[in-house]
Amino acid sequence: MKLLFVCLGNICRSPLAEGIMKHKIAEQGLDWEVDSAGTGGWHAGDLPDSRSIQVAQKHGVDLTYQRARKLRSIDYEAFDRIYVMDSMNYQDVKRLANEDEYDKIELIMNEVEPHRNINVPDPYYGEGDGFEHVFQMLDRACDAIIKKYCKKV
Ligand code: 4NP
Repeated sequence: MKLLFVCLGNICRSPLAEGIMKHKIAEQGLDWEVDSAGTGGWHAGDLPDSRSIQVAQKHGVDLTYQRARKLRSIDYEAFDRIYVMDSMNYQDVKRLANEDEYDKIELIMNEVEPHRNINVPDPYYGEGDGFEHVFQMLDRACDAIIKKYCKKV
């Protein structure tokens, strides 16, 4: 299974999803390919946001090897599933896809609560426990994805 997680900046939400998923597949011995990207390129080359790094570290997940990158057209064929964080990401990712690739694109929380189209909120400008909340959402989503696909690889 080849999974790509996509958000806007690739510094807050999708790096967390990548880190959490890589942590889980390593624990379970799954030979999956996991990456993340942003629909925007403003932060290309940057480390994840320090608040994402911190909340991940608190849960034993390392993000410090990651560097932000922008979504590329080749990603659409290279990955089996492209999980986006919110409806804006969904529109942006879909706009650049070929029609036969639409089925690869999914709002990540639909793996937890199908068809409800719940967004993972952008914590970038927020305060308080936004990053912990995002971590918990993505942790549940990664568990659901593993449960769904681990028997199919
Ligand atoms: P992300 O959060 O999409 O979860 O990485 C954001 C990070 C940076 C910006 C927006 C969202 N920004 O506008 O720079």
